[in-house]
Amino acid sequence: MNRRKFMGLAGMAAGTAMLGTKLGYGLRVRWADDPLRPQYHFLPAANWMNDPNAPVYWKGEYHMFCQYNPHAAIWGDMHWAHAVSPDMVHWQQLPVALAPTPGGPDADGCFSGTAVIDGDRVGAIYTGVRHVPESEATIRDGKNSYRETQLLAWAEDPNLTRWTKVAEPVIATPPAGMDVSGFRDPSPWHGDDGWYMVVGSGVRGKGGAILLYRSEDLIHWEYLHELYGGLGSGVAAVNPVDSGDMWECPEFFALGDRHVLIYSSQGKSWWQVGELDRKAWLFHPETHGVLDYGAFYAPKTQLDRDGHRILWGWIQEQRPEAEFSAAGWAGMMSLPRVLTLREDGGLGMRMAPSVETLRGAKQQLKAGKGAREMLRKLAGMKLTGCCGEVRCRLRRDAAWSVSLAMTNGRDVVTVGFDAANPHVLHVNDALLPLGTAGAIELAMYVDGSVVEVLVNDEVAVTIRFYYAGDVAPELGLRMNLGVEALHEAVMWQMLPISRDRLTS
Ligand code: FRU
Repeated sequence: MNRRKFMGLAGMAAGTAMLGTKLGYGLRVRWADDPLRPQYHFLPAANWMNDPNAPVYWKGEYHMFCQYNPHAAIWGDMHWAHAVSPDMVHWQQLPVALAPTPGGPDADGCFSGTAVIDGDRVGAIYTGVRHVPESEATIRDGKNSYRETQLLAWAEDPNLTRWTKVAEPVIATPPAGMDVSGFRDPSPWHGDDGWYMVVGSGVRGKGGAILLYRSEDLIHWEYLHELYGGLGSGVAAVNPVDSGDMWECPEFFALGDRHVLIYSSQGKSWWQVGELDRKAWLFHPETHGVLDYGAFYAPKTQLDRDGHRILWGWIQEQRPEAEFSAAGWAGMMSLPRVLTLREDGGLGMRMAPSVETLRGAKQQLKAGKGAREMLRKLAGMKLTGCCGEVRCRLRRDAAWSVSLAMTNGRDVVTVGFDAANPHVLHVNDALLPLGTAGAIELAMYVDGSVVEVLVNDEVAVTIRFYYAGDVAPELGLRMNLGVEALHEAVMWQMLPISRDRLTS
């Protein structure tokens, strides 16, 4: 058996070991008893995950891959974890799909990438990294000096579990003469006349850049030009992603009669909606914003079976590394969100309908009972196990403040609004921009130690919250101000997607 074959098998073994069913009894009990671990958000059975990679609907199933460290609950040695789902909500974990090839261009990590469907086969274009001397590196972030190249692998079976890598990079170097601050996260799509691809980058001293490529066969790529670029921060950060001078994880796609560009930098994921000049292949943004104002990064999109554009994001930890490392798991996938074009030309989003299938027992309060009676009824509504969906509809012609709080006191999410300043909503420390029509509808998806908050299907903020002990606190809603503004409050207990928090 040659070294490559051996390593391939070793990779499979590591993957099998991460399967929920193969986890030792001790770990199963530990996960099942960890109230901070989500019950209806996807995450690998153990260890660290970051970016969603290559989500794809294939042969009637949804496949999800993600950045994964099989050895520890901290970032490092990037592999691709893999899971499959009938509905984007219930997941079955599969063996690791991609592992670094010793001596290969991805010897030090299989970074983020995208699925391609080419006839009857599925491929993945991703970034491989290997350590090089600093002078040859495309990543120099103070900690790492890596050379990034764009690689292609093909799935060998309909379940997308066995992958064969094309040995040589399909793009081996950044565009000639370009002094890049990074060169990664390829995102291809099939256009009217061939394959196109954007790659995240930045030009040193100049700013973030989205590089546009074209290909006939997914193997030979021609660099066209910058599809879009930033102005540069002028800040000398050690890691150019921190100053906004390197744009990671780009996505570019049509939505309705517009085009959307997404990229991640400075700890946030940004969207721009605009016009694509198809002759010059230049993008002219018209509106822009932030995809999520909280712990949400490096998103990836896909089309679902009905052709809707689905957004997935990496929900990061916000506790100290020593704590998540000791917990044995870190990070989770956001719930699937459907991207929409808003009436004001901006990008909107709502939860995918399949998330509703998780709704269990329901409690509801409608307006019209008098303030004291409303407050009394509201105090009686409780979520147990930190596992639920909460929706509130509130008036826009008043000042109000509402909290989702632990019934023993601590607030988890506090949302405040004042009709005198109707363009913003305060959600904890974040200020969210708001359109100005109709009631304000809050949707909060609580799960262990996360709350995804969506407002009016317009803006989102993902909040992490942590607590000590073995039992998830009970949660309730409290109106701090302006109970008259509350039209309706609804709570559902959510049904866990697995019995033991393994999400498998
Ligand atoms: C974003 C990112 C990507 C890279 C990956 C590595 O979180 O930095 O740019 O491909 O993570 O894990």
